[in-house]
Amino acid sequence: MNDEALCKLFRRLEQQLMGLIAKTDDPVAQRATAVALLHHKVPGVSWTGFYLLRGDDLVVEAYQGPVACLVLERHMGVCWAGVDRNETLLVDDVESFPGHIACDERSRSEIVVPVRDARGRAIGVLDIDSHIKGHFTTAHRDGYDAIVRMLEEHWWR
Ligand code: SME
Repeated sequence: MNDEALCKLFRRLEQQLMGLIAKTDDPVAQRATAVALLHHKVPGVSWTGFYLLRGDDLVVEAYQGPVACLVLERHMGVCWAGVDRNETLLVDDVESFPGHIACDERSRSEIVVPVRDARGRAIGVLDIDSHIKGHFTTAHRDGYDAIVRMLEEHWWR
């Protein structure tokens, strides 16, 4: 799928998700629905889910895909880097990312998007994995980013 088609797909998914999450204010139901939609509609992904800070730990929350690590070793790997740097990371080859945590050893590329509180502090990440090296493009990055910002607007408005 080329970047133009991906942009269109993500815009459609954002609209669809907006309609779905309007049905409840429960943020866990909203995150579970977001990952179900994204995981089954974005081609080539192997895992889609949230890791959220619980005290000093980064703990798995709503997700789709194979069973993943429940708690990530502190300040290691891509998800922690997303939280610590409070920025979106697109990793083409996870094997070249120092400290990458392989919950699924077939994972080859990954995107993490920080989830922020009302004051802009990172409180977790949306994490998406693929078995294909270099699978994700800036169109994926922008699409997932827009979805997380839309969810945040709902939570903190
Ligand atoms: N690869 C992640 C860990 C989470 S799993 O991919 C689901 C990391 O390096 O933080």
